[in-house]
Amino acid sequence: MNLVIDRNRLAAEIEELAAISDAVAPAVTRIVFTPADLKARAWLIARCKEAGLAVWQDGIGNIFARWTGSDPGLPGVGTGSHIDAIPNAGKFDGVVGVLGGLEAIRSLQRSGFQPKSSIELLVFTSEEPTRFGIGCLGSRLLSGTMSAEAARKLVDKEGASLEDVRGSFGLKEPLEDVKLPHGYYKGFVELHIEQGPLLEQQKIPLGIVTQIAAPASLRISIEGSGGHAGGVLMPDRRDALCAAAELVLAIENAARTSGAVDTVATVGICEVFPGAVNSIPSRVQLSVDIRDTSEARRDAVMRSIEAARQSIAAKRQVSIRQELLNADAPAQCAPAITEALSQSCAKHEIRFLPMVSRAYHDSLFMSRITPVAMLFIPCRNGYSHRPDEYASLEDIERGVVVLAETLATLAA
Ligand code: GLV
Ligand code: MN
Ligand code: MN
Repeated sequence: MNLVIDRNRLAAEIEELAAISDAVAPAVTRIVFTPADLKARAWLIARCKEAGLAVWQDGIGNIFARWTGSDPGLPGVGTGSHIDAIPNAGKFDGVVGVLGGLEAIRSLQRSGFQPKSSIELLVFTSEEPTRFGIGCLGSRLLSGTMSAEAARKLVDKEGASLEDVRGSFGLKEPLEDVKLPHGYYKGFVELHIEQGPLLEQQKIPLGIVTQIAAPASLRISIEGSGGHAGGVLMPDRRDALCAAAELVLAIENAARTSGAVDTVATVGICEVFPGAVNSIPSRVQLSVDIRDTSEARRDAVMRSIEAARQSIAAKRQVSIRQELLNADAPAQCAPAITEALSQSCAKHEIRFLPMVSRAYHDSLFMSRITPVAMLFIPCRNGYSHRPDEYASLEDIERGVVVLAETLATLAA
């Protein structure tokens, strides 16, 4: 098979998509179901149709673009990722897997290859948790990891429900229908930037993911007592932000002392009410992200956080409520697919590193319904979720070749 990647077109498409954004370039912000996201979806659907793919969306807005195989009754082969982007993000996270997946399909078409199983490009809705507080909405529903009932309860910060938001976008089918039937896919492969520094540091051009770490997230609401910053003396205070500060450090400590460097915990959001310099904070909301390769160790960290919550609340006489948003199991990648990826690397004499994905991805949830694997390409300095995120075209091209060959192996 002679695969030729149209790298200039791929590079131009990455730039075009990056320009559909709510941030000033080079930053990219594309939050789910905002006008920028809708414009990006329409642009992408047009690219998929140009490639002759049959395109449709499910009730949560996951986009499917199918290259129909010669035996369409067989389970399909999936690839893809997401195009939503967190505030102040870069242009490669998710996009490399979507546009790289599309270019992989186009390169197979140009080579004359005819798949037996259909090959589908998937663009998952809201991989990022920005708007509704939980990541991988599309793949959670698609895999049945999240129930339609739980999804219907989701509300954004402005109080708009997921149901209303998706409805105003024309997505009316019941969320119950999003779950894919068992055996729909034979396998799923996602191309993604590493979002860490290892490939670059070790000068290895590709990573083959063997495991995806287990993520969890919490929303913590602290309620103390507000008042005048001059009038209320220190012994009389029940300052919600001071309690939050202790809790943030307890969360950091719980992760640092877990016994493994694989444990990470981040408090990425701290909202202070009323937020005036001369007013004692009466309410604080924290959003906490905890991850580990070991689910048991991650859960132990969550128990330490729970203990800290109770003791800080008692000591400072504040109320601290904790809501568990998600606590997901890790995923093991399928040896049959990682083997196909490594055989393609061997054929092209490309060195690869077997590695753990510490970021979560839609593949984590796809693994609940089909064998999955992921292919990582290096990103400069390991930077991701920031405007200077960068992956070279050479690295992307290598990833697309290996992805395309692996899709061909699975679909043959
Ligand atoms: C995905 O964006 C993650 O936070 O791992
Ligand atoms: Mn991301
Ligand atoms: Mn991503």
